Amino acid sequence: MDKTHSDVLIIGGGPAGYSAAERAARGGLTVTLFEKGTPGGVCLNEGCIPTKTLLHAAKVYDYALNGGAYGVFADNVRLDHGTVLARKEKVVKTLVSGVESKMKARKINVVKSAAVIEGKDGGFFSVGADGRSYTGQYLLLAAGSEPLIPPITGLKDALEAGYAVTSREILDLQTIPKKLTVIGAGIIGLEMAAYFAAAGSRVTVIEATGKIAGYTDAEISDLFMTDMIKKGITFHLNGKVTEFSPGIVTYETDGISNNVETDLSLISVGRRPLIARLGLETLGVHTERGAITTDNHLRTNVANLYAIGDINGKSMLAHTAYREAEVAVNHILHKKDTMRYDAVPSVIYTSPEVAYAGETEESAREKGLAYIVKKLSMSYSGRFVAENDKADGLCKLLFEKGTERLIGAHLIGPYASEMIYGASIMIESRWPIGDLRELIFPHPTVSEIIREAFFQI
Ligand code: NAI
Repeated sequence: MDKTHSDVLIIGGGPAGYSAAERAARGGLTVTLFEKGTPGGVCLNEGCIPTKTLLHAAKVYDYALNGGAYGVFADNVRLDHGTVLARKEKVVKTLVSGVESKMKARKINVVKSAAVIEGKDGGFFSVGADGRSYTGQYLLLAAGSEPLIPPITGLKDALEAGYAVTSREILDLQTIPKKLTVIGAGIIGLEMAAYFAAAGSRVTVIEATGKIAGYTDAEISDLFMTDMIKKGITFHLNGKVTEFSPGIVTYETDGISNNVETDLSLISVGRRPLIARLGLETLGVHTERGAITTDNHLRTNVANLYAIGDINGKSMLAHTAYREAEVAVNHILHKKDTMRYDAVPSVIYTSPEVAYAGETEESAREKGLAYIVKKLSMSYSGRFVAENDKADGLCKLLFEKGTERLIGAHLIGPYASEMIYGASIMIESRWPIGDLRELIFPHPTVSEIIREAFFQI
C-alpha cells in the first residue's frame, strides 16, 4: 500500500477516531490514522478508564470498611494511593495495547504525529504530519476536547505553580492532598470528589448553579448530594469562583465573598472541542460556539469532511463517539444510517451510581410534553435489600401521557450504570407499554425495579 494515500484520513485516535478507523477498514477502505499522543485518547489514557479504576478502589475500600453489617469484619483497612495508581497504569497499558493490536490487525496506517489540514485539491484532502503530506478522499476529524480553563484571577499562576490542576494532572497525583477544592460539580468534578474523599482528602465542591450533576434529574441530584454530604463532602452551590491564590480559593454567593482554604484545586468546569491548530480555516469549516457544526450523518459543510466525537460538541461522551464514528463510516460506505441523540445514556460512576437517559421532568416540561412520573424506591428489589443494609436508591421513570411510552429513566443506586442501557433501548425503540410489560427480567436483580414500575402506572 502507498502509505501516503488512503481512502480515509482520520485525525485523532480516541474512541471516535480508532473506532471509525476499525469500522472503515472492516468496510474495505484503506485508512491512515494520525495520533500525536497515545492511542485511546482522553477516554483511555486520562478519562473514563483511569477514573473507573480509582473509583473501583474507593468502592472496594468502602465495602471493606463497612462490611460489618454483612458479617464481614476487617482490621487495619487502608486505601494505598500508590497501589491504586500502579493498578491504574497497568489497566491503561493493557487497554492501549488492545487498541494498538486492533489497528495492526486491520492494517490501519497509524502515523504518530500531530496532523494539520493542508487543503483539498481535485476532490482529495491533503494532511501534513511528520514532515510529509498524506492524501485521502475522505477526512474524519476526531481530535477530541480539552479541559476548559475559565478566565479567573490567579488561575493561570495556580495551574503553573501546580496548586490548581485539571482532570489530566489529578490522575497522576502521587500524594493525596489534605484539602481538595473541586470547582464545578459536573461528572468529572463529582467522580474525583468521591475518590479523593474516600482516599482521605477533605473535599469542598464549589458549583456555579443551584444543583449538582448538570443535566441529571433534580430529585436524583438532590439525593446524590445528600449521599455525598454523608460521606463528608462539603458543597457550596450558587458559588462563583472569583480568585485563586496560594492556599485559598475565593468565591462569591449572592454578592458575598467567601474563602475556602485548600491545598489543591481541581478545575472541572467543562471541556471544549480542540479545533485550534487543525487548519480548519484552509477549508472554511463551519463552527458554532467553538465546536464543528455537523448534521445527522456527522457531515460538516465541506463535502466528504466529517467531525466525530467531542470535537462537534454534541454530547462529549465516549459511547456517543463510538456511535458517531459508525454513522459517519456508514455514510461513506453508502449504508443507510442516521445519528440520534434522544436516548444517549449518561452515567456517574460513584457509589451509589447515577445513570439516566431521555427526558428529565425539567426537559419534558420545557418541551411541553404531557407525561406521567413513576418513582420507586430501590428497596422494591429483593436483591437491593439483600445487598444494602443502610443505603437507599431511587428509580424514576417518565412515560408519555396517552401512549405510556417510556421517555425518560433516572436511577440512583448500585448497578445503575449497567441497567441504564436497557432503559435506553426502551426509549429509543418507542415500544408501547404493553410490549414492555411482556419482557422478562432476571430475578433477583435490581433491574426488576424497572419492570415493577411498568405495572404501577
Ligand atoms: P460539565 O460541563 O459536566 O460540568 C461543569 C460544571 O461546572 C457545571 O455544573 C457548571 O455549572 C460548573 N461551573 C462552570 N463554571 C464554574 C465556575 N466558574 N465556578 C463553579 N462552577 C462552575 O463538565 P465536566 O464535569 O468538566 O465534564 C466535561 C465533559 O466530560 C462532560 O461532557 C461530561 O459528560 C464528560 N465526562 C463524562 C464522564 C462519564 O460519562 N462518566 C466522566 C467524565 C467526563
